[in-house]
Amino acid sequence: MIRATRTFAAEIDAALARLDLPALEREYWAQDEFLFIPRFLPPVAVGALLDDVKRLEPGLNRNYIPRHKKGGSVSHYAIADEGPGLLAFYRSERFRRFLSRLVRADLKLCPDDDPHACALYFYTEPGDHMGHHYDTSYYRGARYTVLVGLVQDSSSRLQCRLHTRTPGRDPVELAVATEPGSLVIFNGDKVYHGVSPSQEGERRVVYTMEYVTSQEMGRMQRLYSNLKDAVAYFGIRALLRGRVRARDLQARVQAES
Ligand SMILES: [Fe+2]
Repeated sequence: MIRATRTFAAEIDAALARLDLPALEREYWAQDEFLFIPRFLPPVAVGALLDDVKRLEPGLNRNYIPRHKKGGSVSHYAIADEGPGLLAFYRSERFRRFLSRLVRADLKLCPDDDPHACALYFYTEPGDHMGHHYDTSYYRGARYTVLVGLVQDSSSRLQCRLHTRTPGRDPVELAVATEPGSLVIFNGDKVYHGVSPSQEGERRVVYTMEYVTSQEMGRMQRLYSNLKDAVAYFGIRALLRGRVRARDLQARVQAES
């Protein structure tokens, strides 16, 4: 596990070293805090993440909320247990430094007990989709979303509307095929987005990572966020089990320090 984590962190470092950061920074801001990097990870690195997906997929939670979303999700808790490459990507300090520079904010990981800190989404049955929404932060600061394409054998697309809140500008519509190894980065309050429905026999898998400027959350926001995670994403049982595990882990770390 430790070796897999180190190897994957090295893949991220190498991918970052290949980027033209000043050019990407200009593009991100010109698109009102949205960026698409088509081939961020090489196939070998995607392969390592797909090994994690294979291990985690049998435990996914499927949900259906009429007119809003349908699909499968795997939570941060399960990824922390059985997805070493995925977790190493989320926790990579160099990746977080790159993001912080890009978005001009000091980004932090979400707390360990947030099931949404990083997650896998599966659009693998006919009609799987996600209604349009903003990734509004329940934390006190801003929230940034990173999507990593893993499987795109599908006509389903990430649909984004940029410049929705830029005075005097018409919105720009994009339909993005999140091919394996591609990266999407955006400010959750600025990009109105959804996922178009998949058809019979199609398969689309994306990895999502959430970064925030504050790890603090108000009590009402916490309540609403928990409810949403249980109903719309990961299922109540998985969340309770995960929270107990996160608490145990925290207690163990405190006892050992
Ligand atoms: Fe979203």
